[in-house]
Amino acid sequence: MLVLSLTRGLSAATSVDSVDSVDSVDSVDSVDLVDGPGEHLVRAHCTGCHGLELVISQRGGEGFWRDTIRWMQNTQNLWVIPRDQEEQILHYLSTYYNESEWGRRPPLPLRLMPRSD
Ligand code: HEC
Repeated sequence: MLVLSLTRGLSAATSVDSVDSVDSVDSVDSVDLVDGPGEHLVRAHCTGCHGLELVISQRGGEGFWRDTIRWMQNTQNLWVIPRDQEEQILHYLSTYYNESEWGRRPPLPLRLMPRSD
């Protein structure tokens, strides 16, 4: 029994640690979004459930971003975004985070780089 409870203690500690590290992954504000019209709307609507890292790990045109938003609305409880704001978000993302922008993205933060060892 001692072993069992030790194990439980350990796994509890492990999960607390991982929650901490998720929280401390660059806070939302420190993600470097490209400056542009609509940026504040992306920060306002797209950071409630996951970090901006996840958002900008993707690239695509308006259709891709609209589908992504619809998917989150249908399956992940994303709220309905007022149409004019959604238009600006789609415009922003498809302008600065389109597939053609892959080559021009800022360098990945070190912690997202593959390990070199
Ligand atoms: C209500 C919660 C919620 C909000 C707000 C939200 N998302 Fe999401 N989003 C999710 C969930 C849940 C996932 C899946 C996360 C995972 O797979 O770990 C996700 C995943 C994603 C992905 C990755 C999709 C993939 O195929 O891997 C992108 C890109 C994304 N969201 C963009 C956005 C954008 C843009 C906004 C703002 C318009 C936004 N999210 C706002 C819940 C949300």
